[in-house]
This record gives sequence, structure tokens and C-alpha cells, in this order.
Amino acid sequence: MAVTADRPAAAKARFWDKIARKYAADPIADMAGYEATLARTRALLAPTHRVLEIGCGTGTTALHLAPSCGHLVATDVSPEMIAIAREKLAAGPQPNLEFQVADADAPVFGQACYDVVLAFNVLHLVADLDAALTSALGALAPGGLFISKTPCLADMNPLLSKVLLPAMRLLGKAPPVLCFRAPDLQAALTRHGLEILAVEHHGTKGKDRRPFIVARRRGPADR
Ligand SMILES: C[S@@+](CC[C@H](N)C(=O)[O-])C[C@H]1O[C@@H](n2cnc3c(N)ncnc32)[C@H](O)[C@@H]1O
Repeated sequence: MAVTADRPAAAKARFWDKIARKYAADPIADMAGYEATLARTRALLAPTHRVLEIGCGTGTTALHLAPSCGHLVATDVSPEMIAIAREKLAAGPQPNLEFQVADADAPVFGQACYDVVLAFNVLHLVADLDAALTSALGALAPGGLFISKTPCLADMNPLLSKVLLPAMRLLGKAPPVLCFRAPDLQAALTRHGLEILAVEHHGTKGKDRRPFIVARRRGPADR
């Protein structure tokens, strides 16, 4: 398993390995919002697309999206999450879908070999946003799409990031998180050579602080 400069992947995986079975059993909190995201993402995929997903969890989204693309490699730092994803895949095989353990902070995804990179509910969990974007976007072919939906914790009630999450971390009930605002995330994507095509909100419950972003990797034709 890949090791990054900050913490070994195994250390990052520990929290997620522990909660993986419960995570798999919990219902999706906003099903209508989730379905809107799936539908929007499907509409951006084509049968020829090679797709990479980072932080795929137990593979639910990948299992839904694989029929809409050519090949999907769905990855997660947690071996236990990936074990559950593989169990689901074994129960309903899809030949164009594979699950792999990989740390999104590490440069492990290859160069320019995917048409689409997906990052749902994970960019606030990586150790280093710039390192993760360098790795994920390096894997994107010029002109390819980066599609993300990310909780922007600094846009939420400050009690969450300043009190609740630190307390939960002390109790081992929350992982380390990055707190950024939606404009910070968009600025980071732009800095990494992406053109932002759309920023949407699919949540149907309360204020939605998880922007769905579609961005395109600029290529030589853009210069
Ligand atoms: C909140 S879950 C989201 C899972 C799925 N994408 C979804 O939307 O349901 C976050 C996932 O990110 C994974 N994760 C956390 N840090 C990661 C890292 N550095 N590299 C890859 N995956 C990571 C966790 O193991 C977990 O499965």
C-alpha cells in the first residue's frame, strides 16, 4: 500500500476500516439529493469513458455508475471499505468495474489515463488537498472531467469545525478533516489547471454546503 509523506496509508485507513460495516449499513441521509447527483453524473459519462473514482467507500456510487461508462476503477484508502465493495460486486458482477485500495494523497493513479475522475465526499478527508489534486488531476487526460461533491466545512456552523469535530476526534469518533470554504476549493481546482464548468447544489434537506462541481482539465488546445 502506498505511503505518503504525512501518515502511512494504513494509519489513515484505521478509522474507516473500523466503521466500514456500519457505514455500509447506514441509509443515505438525503436520497433525493444523492439520486440527483447520480443522474447528473451519468449524463456526463459516455460508454467510451475510462473513469477513476477516489474515496469510493463501499462502492455504492461506482456500482450505480459503471453501466454508464466504459471502465471504472474505484479506489479507497480503506481495505475494509474495498472488501465490502468487492462483496457487493461479487453479488452483482459488472465486468467493467474494479475496486482497488489506494491512498488519494499519493501519486498512484498514473498519468493522463482517465477521461473522468470522480471524488464524492472525500476531498475534505485527504491529508493534503494539493497533493491529492496533483495525483487525481495528473491521472486525468487533457480535456477530461473532474466531478466532485465535497462538504465545505468552513461554510457550516463554526461549532462543527471548532468544537464538535475536535471533540469527536479526541474520542476516536471522527477522522482528521480539512476545513475549507467553497470558494477556496474552486480556487484550488482552478490553480491546478481546471476550468470550472458548473457548480450546483443537489441537497434537498436544509442548507447544502456540499457543492457539486464539474470541471475540465485544460489541454494544449486551450493555450
Ligand atoms: C465519507 S466516505 C465517502 C464514501 C463515498 N465516496 C460516498 O460518497 O459515499 C469517505 C471515504 O473516503 C475514504 N478516504 C479517506 N481518506 C482517504 C484517502 N487519503 N485516500 C483515499 N480514500 C480516502 C474513506 O476510507 C471513506 O471510504
